Amino acid sequence: MKKTFALLLAAVMMLAMLTACGGDKPADNAGSSQPNQTETTTPPAEVPDAPEGGGTIGVCIYQFTDAFMTTYRNALQEILEGKGYEVSVVDGANDQAKQNEQINTFITQGVDALIINPVMTSAADQIIATVKAAGIPTVLINREPAPEQMAVYDKLVYVGCDARQSGTMQGELILDTPNKGDINGDGKISYIMVQGDPENVDAQYRTEFSVKALKDAGMEVEELNLTRGDWMRERGQEIVANDLAQFGDQIEVVFCNNDDMAIGALQSIQAAGRKVNEDIYLVGVDALDAALNEVSNGNMTGTVLNDAVGQATAAVEQMEALLGGATFSSGNQSVYVDYVKVTPDNVGDFMK
Ligand code: BGC
Repeated sequence: MKKTFALLLAAVMMLAMLTACGGDKPADNAGSSQPNQTETTTPPAEVPDAPEGGGTIGVCIYQFTDAFMTTYRNALQEILEGKGYEVSVVDGANDQAKQNEQINTFITQGVDALIINPVMTSAADQIIATVKAAGIPTVLINREPAPEQMAVYDKLVYVGCDARQSGTMQGELILDTPNKGDINGDGKISYIMVQGDPENVDAQYRTEFSVKALKDAGMEVEELNLTRGDWMRERGQEIVANDLAQFGDQIEVVFCNNDDMAIGALQSIQAAGRKVNEDIYLVGVDALDAALNEVSNGNMTGTVLNDAVGQATAAVEQMEALLGGATFSSGNQSVYVDYVKVTPDNVGDFMK
């Protein structure tokens, strides 16, 4: 009797497994703002379990001196170590050749999974070919390759944000000011744009969508200058000092693709005797601690939370899905975490 029951149970379980394998199973992408963009398919073959309380993980960061990626990598390390993984985090020093070596070393060491913040998105094909040849489950973060590039490897997923959203929010921060960014009342918003390194598509999208939000609201815009600051504070400072010297009071809005450059910009704005929110507006992205302080002191008009902890959490979740045997189908390999607008009204919610 017992035996018959056991056999019956086995048959029922078998049937359940076969049914489960028949269709696409949505990925557990908590934190994603666009659930339809991502799903995993569970292959009918043997699915290995994620290593219990362990496994070795290699994390490659494009450059340790990047302020935002410092918060992000610390969060990643803490989450992974908290889950019992052995973690090694390495600095690509903004050098793709160096990062390629680091990836190869991790592969030789036999890591269970890789989390990679590419130095050059344009080198994604090579990175993906390397991890694919080694069969290592890989999560790409922060610098998003094109869907076609990712499609060649089904144990690969990208975790990041949709930077168009952050650009739009920057534009909205300006539209929310009393004069909608037109301080001198001449009917147009005159701005300068301090851009990030175009190796990250965030630079392009934030530039485009911040201005698009102004135009979509019916405002006339005038771009006085656009300069690459490569995400770095000192570059933000230099660029804005030069622009202020050249354009002076004509500048009504300073858009910075990230907060570190905005903090640099603020130093130059103050050195020129200008006053944010009175005779000039300044916005960034990331919600770094320094920027949150300045928003709360009224020295920045606003910023946009680029959720490092949310992205690190989602990256580890997706890594564990891969370790559990999940695969990603082509065109559905990006998981996005939402941005959040930060103004003087809600800045307190983000400060530690
Ligand atoms: C962040 C920047 C950072 C860059 C690095 C962006 O998403 O907003 O602060 O420098 O990623 O790739």
